[in-house]
Parts: sequence; structure tokens; C-alpha cells
Amino acid sequence: MMAEAAKLLARSKFAIAFTGAGISAESGVPTFRGKDGLWMRYRPEELATPEAFSRNPRLVWDFYKWRMKLIAKARPNRAHYALAKLEEMGILKAVITQNVDDLHREAGTKNLIELHGNIFRVRCTSCDYRENLKESCSLEEFLREELPKCPNCGSLLRPDVVWFGEPLPEEELSEAFKLARRADLILVIGTSGLVYPAAYIPYIVKENGGIVIEINVEESALTPIADIFLRGKAGEVMGTLLEEVKKILD
Ligand code: APR
Ligand code: ZN
Repeated sequence: MMAEAAKLLARSKFAIAFTGAGISAESGVPTFRGKDGLWMRYRPEELATPEAFSRNPRLVWDFYKWRMKLIAKARPNRAHYALAKLEEMGILKAVITQNVDDLHREAGTKNLIELHGNIFRVRCTSCDYRENLKESCSLEEFLREELPKCPNCGSLLRPDVVWFGEPLPEEELSEAFKLARRADLILVIGTSGLVYPAAYIPYIVKENGGIVIEINVEESALTPIADIFLRGKAGEVMGTLLEEVKKILD
């Protein structure tokens, strides 16, 4: 299977990747629905909905600040670096991610579409103020604030991520669908494939005659449409896949 996957990837004309929380598991970032997943420990309706935020913004901010601290300590793993390398080699045209952890960007991926936002970005609940706390190097200071307020208008700031029941950012979603219609191969890495509209992306590639290669430690809701299923940890499998592709292209 690995040799077949490498051959198909090396010969692809327009390959893309679609990633979920599983790709960052080896970096120490908890998944959502896995054994110790966040939604196994906490109730998403109390922490990741606009209603929860208006009901108890302090509780929601405590949760996101805890995740920000945890993710700020995490480093990309071999899977993130392998995707960045495949892009550099001209094989991978884009990475579409459901993750908010910024690890693809840190690993060097250039054409990155973040469908669910980014945990290091904040925006105002009233005016159009936005800030990337990593770029403004104010993460430490920000994490000390109990209830972050907008420097422009004084209203509450919120994490610039997509909560349950909220629409995805239009530009990113239409760009992702456009790429999926064009792709002749998609790597589906570390996602349960249960959350829509993101999970439509591999189906769009399939419907347009593209090849679906899935990498996961266990079968997911997307495995039935996978042409090749590579069972294993993303870092290990992607590390090997990259080496195999390099051998073919050498
Ligand atoms: N390597 C590969 N796959 C892994 C690994 C690993 N090391 N560890 C776990 N997985 C797989 C799990 O088997 C599971 O299929 O990753 C998947 C993680 O699934 P979820 O926790 O459901 O995460 P994801 O699919 O990204 O969730 C989608 O749901 O909660 C919302 O907005 C949030 O973006 C998120 C969306
Ligand atoms: Zn404001």
C-alpha cells in the first residue's frame, strides 16, 4: 500500500491535503473525539458555541487560554514537516486544515487554508478589530488578562475560531472547494470526518475522479471512500511516504 501511495502521489498533477486534529496528536495537542479527546472531557455546548460565550465568557476564555498555553508549547511533528516538504518539492499544492493550532504554518506550509480559524487570532465582538497574538508578540500579556477587551471600542474580544453552529469563513470555504474540484489526489490525515461542511472536501475530490489516500490510526467516517488506507500515526506514516516519494523522483 505504501509503495502504491507513493507512486500515485509522485505522479499526481494537483495533489492537496486535508487535515484534522490527529495530525497534531504526536505534537501533544489533544484531539476532540479520541480516547482523551477534549469533547470526551468537556461539553462542547458549554465551551465552543456563541451561546456559551454570551452566557459565560469567563468560562469560555479560561478554556481557550488553557488550550492556547498548551498549543503554544507544541512543535510541529514529522507529518507537518513532510507536507511542507512536499509543497516545496512542487507535489502538494495546498493544505486545507480543520486545525486551529498554527502548526502547519510553523512547519513552513505556504498555501494553507484554515477552515476553522486560528487559536492565536482574536477579534472584537462589536467592531472589526482583529489581532494575531503571535505576530504582535503579545501572547504572554494577553494570557494574563482575565476577560480580554477590544483596545478600539472596549467590547469583549473572542477567539477567531469557528464555533459549533457558526458558518465557516466564506473565502476559505470557497477556496477549499475550488481546490477540491481541481485536485487529482487528496491526502486525508487524522480526521474523524464527522464535521461538516469541512468533511465534504474529500467527497468533492472523489466525485471529480480524484484519488483519496487516508492516513489514520483507525478507520474514520471517510474510510469508505478511501482508495488507499494507511493505518498508523501521521508522523510515522508521512515520514515514510515522503522518503518513498523522494526515492521515486530521484
Ligand atoms: N495519527 C493519525 N490519526 C490520528 C492520530 C495520529 N497520531 N491520533 C488520532 N488520530 C485520528 C483519530 O483516529 C480520529 O479519527 O484523528 C482523528 C481525530 O478526530 P477528531 O478528534 O474528531 O478531530 P477532527 O476530525 O479534526 O474534528 C473536526 O470538530 O471539534 C470540532 O472544530 C473542531 O476542527 C474540529 C472538528
Ligand atoms: Zn472593538
